[in-house]
Amino acid sequence: MVVSAHPLATQVGVDILKLGGNAIDAAVAVAFALEVVLPDAGNIGGGGFIVHRTAGGEVTALDYREAAPAAATHDMFVDSAGNPTKKSEVGHLASGVPGSVAGLHEAWQKYGTLPWATLIAPAIRLAQGHVVDSARSREIASDRELLAQFPASRELYLVHDSAPPPGTLWRQPDLVRTLQLISDSGPDVFYRGQIADLIVAEMQRGGGLITKDDLRRYRAKWRTPIALSYRGHTIYSMPPPSSGGVTMGEILNILEGYDSLPAFGTAAYVHLVTEAMRRAFIDRNRWLGDPDFVDMPLDRLLSKSYAATLRSQIDPKHATPTPPQAAGGEPMHTTHYSIVDSQGNAAAVTTTLNGGFGSGVTVTGAGFLLNNEMDDFASAPGKPNMYGLVQGEANAVAGNKRMLSAMTPSIVLDSASSLEMVVGTPGGPTIITSVTQVILNVLDQKMSLADAVAAPRIHHQALPDQTYYEHGGLSDATVRALQAMGHKMDERRGRSGIIAAIQKTAGGWVGVADPRYAGGALGY
Ligand code: DON
Repeated sequence: MVVSAHPLATQVGVDILKLGGNAIDAAVAVAFALEVVLPDAGNIGGGGFIVHRTAGGEVTALDYREAAPAAATHDMFVDSAGNPTKKSEVGHLASGVPGSVAGLHEAWQKYGTLPWATLIAPAIRLAQGHVVDSARSREIASDRELLAQFPASRELYLVHDSAPPPGTLWRQPDLVRTLQLISDSGPDVFYRGQIADLIVAEMQRGGGLITKDDLRRYRAKWRTPIALSYRGHTIYSMPPPSSGGVTMGEILNILEGYDSLPAFGTAAYVHLVTEAMRRAFIDRNRWLGDPDFVDMPLDRLLSKSYAATLRSQIDPKHATPTPPQAAGGEPMHTTHYSIVDSQGNAAAVTTTLNGGFGSGVTVTGAGFLLNNEMDDFASAPGKPNMYGLVQGEANAVAGNKRMLSAMTPSIVLDSASSLEMVVGTPGGPTIITSVTQVILNVLDQKMSLADAVAAPRIHHQALPDQTYYEHGGLSDATVRALQAMGHKMDERRGRSGIIAAIQKTAGGWVGVADPRYAGGALGY
């Protein structure tokens, strides 16, 4: 079963499984296919995380998050008045050293079974020409102004300065060449060879910082997954430099202390869940960062006794205010896919350029976009980033450091420790709360996976001190009841996450692509 944000990429994954590939083979092939068909999230110019569980029960977490260039500095994104600038979001300075090619190759070396070139071949075919559908045409249209700023992006993505209309046959010859080089020579060509040269030339063209040394030094890193227990289930998720596993763990630990949760959609339910989210995000924003740079009290944050303390501070009738701050931006684009192969190996993969189409900069001659992941740092500690997250020194910019992520690729086991669910989503900070809610909907609210994914979501990230809910997601009476408890309710127009999830049921495996977006679920 493969669930991804693009039907063509999902098909590539299933084809690889049918060829006898395992979950990691399929994950690598889907990643390269997404680079071609889902360029807004991509991404060989970005990075990501894989949480993988073998059928035999070995669980690993791979970190191929981007790293700051060595020359990056603490205050590179603030102006003389100490205010954040847009340079962490748009243009060459916004990019961290891409991790995807190194990470995918590392995962394949450890677990892959099919030849590397076999996994890249479908992406090459798609780059030779595929038909743009309406969802992707819309995505390009909505970021037209960003792409038009950079000549190579304008040439690649826009036709007469507009998005290619649905039905356009889209050919990406530079990307064909790039993928062929990666297929022939592996990560070496990307980090030391011809593609590295093109990336560095692009940086010099636009005043960016990434050097040949930065590329040469980049490594994907195996991390110990976060293991959580929740009402008899075990959940594996991503450790720092993602905040996903820890923050979800705190939320679930707080909620586990209630014998049962109030009914879905009630004010009592929204109150408890958002108060748990608020407390977990306060810790996230204060403590978490790249484990190679900061010491983090993870054992304490994830202990049941700490959760009990936090729970005891929740007033059942009133929201606990946090200081007001400026509101944040809207969710942009990242992508998650979930795979289970016929052996029962499972891969949860979340990967990102950060914002839609990343920094907007296409590497001239190489045909791929670079990320704007530098904005995931606290570019100005104490000031909100593009997701409105207010973070501290633990996540300040430093050379070679990895910026804190919210990506939460997760694997859930049942009480007998067998594979039950694979789940993840894009959505900036709403990633953590969206994944958590799908798990709560299935485990506590006893919803089917389809209902659990479709159900309207809520979100709280401590600052700004607002309780978000999706458009029409709560009844007027519930909203009024929450306002009376002191919640500042904020109805979000945009979608909250694009879940891609797989669940084992008595009737077999179920795959669900979020109805909020045009993805695809396919099994055989
Ligand atoms: O790593 C992170 O947390 C962010 N770069 C994710 C951004 C994201 O999900 C945007 N997508 N909707």
